[in-house]
Amino acid sequence: MSAFFEIKNLEAGYGNSKVLFDVSLKIAEGEFVTLMGRNGMGKSTTIRSIMGILKPTAGEIYHDGTRIDGLASHKIAKRGIGFVPEGRHIFPNLSVRENLLMAQIKRGSANEWDVDSVFDFFPRLAERMSNGGDQLSGGEQQMLAIGRALMTNPYLLILDEATEGLAPIIRDEIWDQLGKLKAMGVSILIVDKELDALSELADHHFIIEKGEIVWQGDNQALMSNPAIHEKFLGV
Ligand SMILES: Nc1ncnc2c1ncn2[C@@H]1O[C@H](COP(=O)(O)OP(=O)(O)OP(=O)(O)O)[C@@H](O)[C@H]1O
Ligand SMILES: [Mg+2]
Repeated sequence: MSAFFEIKNLEAGYGNSKVLFDVSLKIAEGEFVTLMGRNGMGKSTTIRSIMGILKPTAGEIYHDGTRIDGLASHKIAKRGIGFVPEGRHIFPNLSVRENLLMAQIKRGSANEWDVDSVFDFFPRLAERMSNGGDQLSGGEQQMLAIGRALMTNPYLLILDEATEGLAPIIRDEIWDQLGKLKAMGVSILIVDKELDALSELADHHFIIEKGEIVWQGDNQALMSNPAIHEKFLGV
C-alpha cells in the first residue's frame, strides 16, 4: 500500500547552493502534519519543491502512489494539492470575489467549494467581497489566501506561515477553521511556529534542521519533550 503523500530523500537548492540534504516525510489521508524548525532551515524550500516551484535535484515525491516531483505547479494543483504560500500573493487589483473565482478547480463531485461556501466559512470575507485585494487587512488577506486554496477543492492543503504577523484573535479564527477542515477530512501540512495551537490540532510533527529531518513524532512525543523545543525550535 502506498502512502497518501510521501517525500523520500529530497534534495534541493538554489543555483549552486544546496539547501535540502535529506528530507523524508509521510502524510496519511486525513492527517494534520507540521513541518517545524528555526528560520532558514529549509521549510519553505521543502514546500516549494512539493508545489513544483523549485525542481528537486534528488529524491522523490509521491501523491496517491504517483510520482509528482518535476510536475508543473498547475498540474500539482489539479491533482488536489492546495497551497497557501508564505506572503499570501493576493491579486491586489482583483476583488475578493474575483481572487476566489480565478483559483477555482472543479472536480465534479458533490459538496465542492464555491464562492458562497468560502464566504460562509470566512464571514469576514463575505463582508469584503467587492473590495480589492489591496484593501484588505493582513488577516483578511490570509483568509482569502486560504479561501483561494479551498476553491481548488484540495485533498491535501499546504500552508506556509499562515498565521505569521496576525493579531491573536484572527489567528484563533484561522486555527478554528483549520480544525474544521481537518474534521471534514482534508489532509493538512503546515509550517508554523505557534506550538500551543499546533499541539491541539496536529497528529504528527517533523522537525527540519539545515535541510535534514532531524526529529519526527506524534503530538504526545513532542509535547512531553521540552528539550526538543529548545534544541530545534528555539522556544
Ligand atoms: N530564492 C532563494 N535563493 C537563494 N537562496 C535562498 C532562496 N530562498 C531561500 N534561500 C536560502 O535557503 C535557505 C532555506 O530557506 P527557506 O526559505 O527554505 O527557510 P525556512 O525554513 O522557510 O525559513 P523561515 O522560517 O525564515 O521562513 C536559507 O539559507 C535561505 O537563505
Ligand atoms: Mg519559510
